[in-house]
Amino acid sequence: MTITRRELIRRAGQIGVVTLVTGCGDNTGDSESASDVGTDSESDSETGGDGLPNYEYDGDPGPKDLFQHGVASGDPLPDSVILWTRVTGASGEVEVFYEIAVDPAFEQRVAAAYVTTNDERDYTVKIDPSELDAGTTYYYRFQSLGRMSPVGRTRTAPTGAVARLRFAVVSCASLAHGYFHAYGHVANRKDLDFVVHLGDYIYEYGDGEYGSLRNYEPPHEIKSLEDYRLRYAQYRREAPLQEVHRQHPMIAVWDDHEITNNAYANGAENHSDDEGDWETRKAIAYQVYHEWMPIREQPNGFIYRKLSYGDLLDLIMLDTRIAGRDPGVSAGDTDGLADPNRHLLGADQEAWLSEQLSASTAKWKVIGQQVMMGYWRGAGGAVINPDQWDGYQAAQGRFFHGLRKSAIDNVVVLTGDIHSFWATDLTDDIDSYDPETGDGSLAVEFVTSSVSSPTLQGGQGFLDLVLANSPAIRWGDMGNHGYIVVDLDENRVQGDYFGVMGITQPTAGPEMFLQGFVSSDGANRLTAANDPAPPQPEAPAPAP
Ligand SMILES: [Fe+2]
Repeated sequence: MTITRRELIRRAGQIGVVTLVTGCGDNTGDSESASDVGTDSESDSETGGDGLPNYEYDGDPGPKDLFQHGVASGDPLPDSVILWTRVTGASGEVEVFYEIAVDPAFEQRVAAAYVTTNDERDYTVKIDPSELDAGTTYYYRFQSLGRMSPVGRTRTAPTGAVARLRFAVVSCASLAHGYFHAYGHVANRKDLDFVVHLGDYIYEYGDGEYGSLRNYEPPHEIKSLEDYRLRYAQYRREAPLQEVHRQHPMIAVWDDHEITNNAYANGAENHSDDEGDWETRKAIAYQVYHEWMPIREQPNGFIYRKLSYGDLLDLIMLDTRIAGRDPGVSAGDTDGLADPNRHLLGADQEAWLSEQLSASTAKWKVIGQQVMMGYWRGAGGAVINPDQWDGYQAAQGRFFHGLRKSAIDNVVVLTGDIHSFWATDLTDDIDSYDPETGDGSLAVEFVTSSVSSPTLQGGQGFLDLVLANSPAIRWGDMGNHGYIVVDLDENRVQGDYFGVMGITQPTAGPEMFLQGFVSSDGANRLTAANDPAPPQPEAPAPAP
């Protein structure tokens, strides 16, 4: 395909926070004065023969590890996907060139341009290229200071009739507790459309405060802008995390530890007055998350958002932590737990969620969020963990009531945070729920365990206690780390739970299929599947 320089400039105008510098060094942005130079006037050496610029640099090369944090992509749309990298060891304003192609050898490029970055955004680069084709695999790479990044692979969202989708669900990676082999196993699955990350992508603690297998950078609890940036930079040097980003687009939300433990809108368990102003810390955490994660920034500043995959899937991502969460109450405070004025999502997000569910025409409405939504109780139905939806019972009840009132089918909730696997029917009337048939269930929930954060303590006794007192929970596993693969077609959704071995060793251990669960179209309840869903018959070539 050919493209004019004006088109190049127009495309680069979509970039957002980074500044366009065109291939010839003019810095005209989307100006009307930009000359409309056709590709015919540009030599092949300038354009690569496809009308797109080639990378040109004749200065001293930058450091060999310039791209030490790899590449990433995320938030696929039918016509775009966020592309990310970071340059390390540069100073001042630095020029970064990107290319997008439909083949891993970059012989069929579809976009290429220069952008700039600087210390104001920690030398991260985010591109939102637009004008890509729907449901298409792309390969991308960056060049700067004479160095080239690894090649990344990504995929735009399809439109129209979609036969099948397949994605992984991950959460909770405490670097101090182990290695991120679960990400490596997910990276190796070449047939995934994307990866959902439900938060606790980083942890905020200092050395020895929560795990001691590995040390943190910086060694103390992160509080300042520099601290948060250093922590993400350390995480992004982890090979399995780089690889999962390199092979798959990620759709991520934060949980609490991207800010600090048990955060809510106006404070956190792990934040005291002597640690500075809460709003300042929250803003720092927010800024660095957006610098380092391949997430599309929204005008309203929130991370809750919807991504559509044709007629098969609407993926609704929530923020149960920061946008509108009221402070927690103790598990024994039955009045507080049921207080109708306490919010988990906040009124605005709750109304937005209700609108999304009512308006969705997709077969499956999948909600990616942080804390367990299902009835997860101990002896006598007592609340065990008031940090999850059980601790915000009015919000929990309103959500279920909305499903029942509007007869909304095929809602699937994805959850992390709790460092254990669960498969759960969802109901607002636990007393009339039938555990034999699933009658009374309104929706289903797949809860993934952690990548490396410590699994729940309590052993078989605690697992048995929860299962005995939580009739809608179909299955639980408190001993394994790992991830879930979700496989969707028009007839059913299947969640396959995979345990990952050897997280305390640098070399990856094996993974094993633990259990699968299926919810058929319109059933809104889980049944066990003894075999995992088969891989997709053809997977695009991995990023080389
Ligand atoms: Fe966690």
